[in-house]
Amino acid sequence: MANLFVVDHPLVKHKLSFLRSKFTDVHMFRELMQELSMLLAYEATREIPLEETFCETPLTKTKAWMISGQLIALVPILRAGLGMVDGLLSFMPMAKVGHIGLYRDHDTLQPVEYYCKLPARIAQMDVFVLDPMLATGGSVAKAIEIVKGKGARQIRFLCVVSCPEGIAFLQKAHPDVAIYTCVVDERLNDHGYILPGLGDAGDRLYGTK
Ligand code: PRP
Ligand code: URA
Repeated sequence: MANLFVVDHPLVKHKLSFLRSKFTDVHMFRELMQELSMLLAYEATREIPLEETFCETPLTKTKAWMISGQLIALVPILRAGLGMVDGLLSFMPMAKVGHIGLYRDHDTLQPVEYYCKLPARIAQMDVFVLDPMLATGGSVAKAIEIVKGKGARQIRFLCVVSCPEGIAFLQKAHPDVAIYTCVVDERLNDHGYILPGLGDAGDRLYGTK
């Protein structure tokens, strides 16, 4: 599928098995989420722009390359997307971080916006929208609409678990946005939860159930 990258490295598969397990506690769940986000970031940053510079080794001067963290924006969708931020910041500590607060209405499954604070120059930045779960696709489609509304054009979406329904919805709404995911699960259940999935990512990250 165009613009879909499934990062199915053995390390990812291994960590995902623990993330899914209902016996994994909050502390371990958070750690795994962060590690998987780093592995996703490794793939999703393949094409980001570098600036040429130079450095002095103990022996000589040489050409070198640097990421311009000033031009990278991470945009987690609250709450669960917050669990991915530190993983990306460990690679790109200079990145700016914006936040979009959305929750799914329990009955309609439609996203409801409650917060938005984005970096001032987001229109010029490479934007990484973060949310571990791509279910119906409504939340991320809305988040990307908000980010595009501020002028951003280079947008990638990173999620840990996705499903065919969410991918189809997002690709129709935003065909220009590349999706990076660790796995494409089977399907959604009648309540909009991914099967086999991992349950409610926000509750598992923050111990709220
Ligand atoms: C979850 C998840 C996504 C959304 C995915 O958030 O973190 O944001 O559902 O579902 P969708 O693709 O069908 O929109 P939730 O609404 O439960 O909010 P929370 O992170 O605050 O728990
Ligand atoms: N949100 C979650 O946290 N999990 C799902 O399976 C679907 C939406």
